[in-house]
Amino acid sequence: MSTTVKINGQATAVVAEPDTPLLWLLRGELKLTGTKFGCGMALCGACTVHLDGQPVRGCVTPLAAVGGKEVTTIEGLSGKVADAVRAAWLEIDVVQCGYCQSGQIMAAAALLAANPKPSDPEIDAAMNGNLCRCGTYPRIRAAIHAAARRLAAG
Ligand code: FES
Ligand code: FES
Repeated sequence: MSTTVKINGQATAVVAEPDTPLLWLLRGELKLTGTKFGCGMALCGACTVHLDGQPVRGCVTPLAAVGGKEVTTIEGLSGKVADAVRAAWLEIDVVQCGYCQSGQIMAAAALLAANPKPSDPEIDAAMNGNLCRCGTYPRIRAAIHAAARRLAAG
């Protein structure tokens, strides 16, 4: 099928079957390789992107579910919250191998957009599905708090 998907603010014409996973489209067709492929079964969070601002797993989101919604990937993540998250990630030096981190950042940005001052339990609940083989969880949590401080400081 031929359709148009709004990705990172741009209407993008695509030719793909309705059951094609969004992740396949992003990485394979559009070469937006910042979004990673991990498990392919909604178990790791490496493929997290935003659909109308909500975090979703690109590996299990069929093109048919995207419809007229806005897809945002790590390449297109922008604005006040995104800036605070990126700065905090650098401040805390979160990244180890980096493989999971675009998914982590997408999940953290969605959390902070909905809740600009999350508690530890709220962070843990929101980030629960984003796995990190390198065990950067304590730094991710610290960076989300640091991003919240940056947002509060304006
Ligand atoms: S690759 Fe999608 S959740 Fe693991
Ligand atoms: S930083 Fe290596 S998997 Fe998370």
